[in-house]
Amino acid sequence: MQTLRDIGQLGSALVALRAGGHRVALVPTMGALHDGHIALIQEAKRQADRVVATIFVNPLQFGENEDLERYPRREKEDSAALDRAGCDLLWMPTPEQMYPAGFSTIVSVAGLSRRWEGEARPGHFDGVATVVTKLINAVRPDVAVFGEKDFQQLAIIRRLTVDLSLGAEIVGLPIVRDCDGLALSSRNAYLSDDERARAVTLPRALHTAAEAIEAGAPVNGAVEEARRALDDAGFAPIDYVALVDEVTLEPLQSASGRMRLIAAATMGSTRLIDNVPVSAPQQG
Ligand code: PAJ
Repeated sequence: MQTLRDIGQLGSALVALRAGGHRVALVPTMGALHDGHIALIQEAKRQADRVVATIFVNPLQFGENEDLERYPRREKEDSAALDRAGCDLLWMPTPEQMYPAGFSTIVSVAGLSRRWEGEARPGHFDGVATVVTKLINAVRPDVAVFGEKDFQQLAIIRRLTVDLSLGAEIVGLPIVRDCDGLALSSRNAYLSDDERARAVTLPRALHTAAEAIEAGAPVNGAVEEARRALDDAGFAPIDYVALVDEVTLEPLQSASGRMRLIAAATMGSTRLIDNVPVSAPQQG
């Protein structure tokens, strides 16, 4: 695996990677890699002949009171894991190259960025949309792979790729979970043993509510029940639990079409997000 920091060397590395007409996949990350990220690399290898991964802890998507400084940084381990997974090129841009002095262009996806994570984390999605646009622009992949773990992020990236004619196909990968069901996340490392044990209520409550809705239970009741379970487990605050349309992310009062149950809640000082698909209720 080749490793680069300097954006100036990226162009020639990509020409070499594409030689012979190879299809290129991009997997953007912020590092502190776990099996969820590695699953993205494996999907990228199914989708393309060559895989480019990026590690960049993007300052633009962290709020003032968020964890930019304490966000885990593990370049050596990450690089070894990517190499083992069969990644061909690792690009780790520097903040100075990504955001040179005078930087003033922001990509903002209206509508989709407003609710849910957008409400809890003002400016977050402008930071994500801007950096993902820059990464896709710099690498020009045939396909880019993202996790459903960040479901709203995935919807926003699909939108901006079409809107800005970036020309990359966007592939979403289902959430990779720990054996007890908690979605893998770099932020799980912040949880104490006790918090980690209680955090499993998040996926369980979502699965229970999804099953209830699929069995024909009223949406509001199922969502309230999930909220109560999170409350009982000690999650506070609970930012949202909602059934939404999978494409528009608009809230649904009754089940119809393609749906997701999404939630965000804080355990101790760690904010967790999760989501599960919901099928249309059985008739009769
Ligand atoms: P990061 O949190 O490092 O995640 C990188 C990619 O891994 C994202 O597409 C995310 O959805 C995916 N991912 C994380 N946990 C996962 C899991 N348990 N199962 C499946 N996929 C998972 O998301 C970001 O970085 C940044 O916002 C980024 C897109 C890199 C822009 O800075």
